[in-house]
Amino acid sequence: MKGIILAGGLGTRLYPLTYATNKHLLPIYDQPMVFYPIRTLVAAGITEIMLVTGGPHAGHFMRVLKNGKELGLKHLEYAYQENEGGIAQALSLAEDFADKKSVAVILGDNTTDADIRPSVRDFKKGALVFLKTVSDPGRYGVPVFSGDRRSILRIEEKPSRPKSDFAVTGLYLYDHRVFDFIRELKPSARGELEITDVNNFYIREGLLNWSVLDGFWTDAGKFETLYLANHYWAAKKGVIP
Ligand code: G1P
Repeated sequence: MKGIILAGGLGTRLYPLTYATNKHLLPIYDQPMVFYPIRTLVAAGITEIMLVTGGPHAGHFMRVLKNGKELGLKHLEYAYQENEGGIAQALSLAEDFADKKSVAVILGDNTTDADIRPSVRDFKKGALVFLKTVSDPGRYGVPVFSGDRRSILRIEEKPSRPKSDFAVTGLYLYDHRVFDFIRELKPSARGELEITDVNNFYIREGLLNWSVLDGFWTDAGKFETLYLANHYWAAKKGVIP
């Protein structure tokens, strides 16, 4: 399976930290943020990666990642997203790279120490989303479960009244149909092509599975979560209690 890291956007929620570089290059303890999702993919055996970025600081990635060898990558490609059209629009730029095969997609500001290797190994078709319980689900995509909790009926993006305590994290496995579904999308109220709408396409086809991440997970795209991520990884490496 190939991997796709989505690392575009302007990082406006972190102004002024992102005036001078891309959000995904800010530090999480001792490494640039984007190293974490790359390491998650490499640990799952995925060493062919496309990084989709954009904005005024896109060139900084090449200075930091170079050809990816230091992180264990066999192949690193870059794509440039011309405007902030949303996560699903960024993903559409990786269609040729995916070459009609399944892909693992991670948002460049997501950091986890969970092992996704078994899910990657067992993935066959459809889509798989990784869930995690959070204290503030209204800030994320939130699954609505059936009464017996055996299936997800739909995913609501940043609902004012979340119907579960789970966030749909920014880690996804998709088969090749993902690019067909993206072509069908209409922009949301915030003017973006939403990854949640892609996942809802798979739900309607009865082809969405999920797995709960076994480990720490947070995004790091807001001051609180950037701080939380730094704190977690510094503690894990034993430098703070
Ligand atoms: C995005 C997705 C959301 C998901 C989150 C995970 O939100 O739209 O469904 O739960 O990433 O990090 P954003 O951070 O773009 O607001």
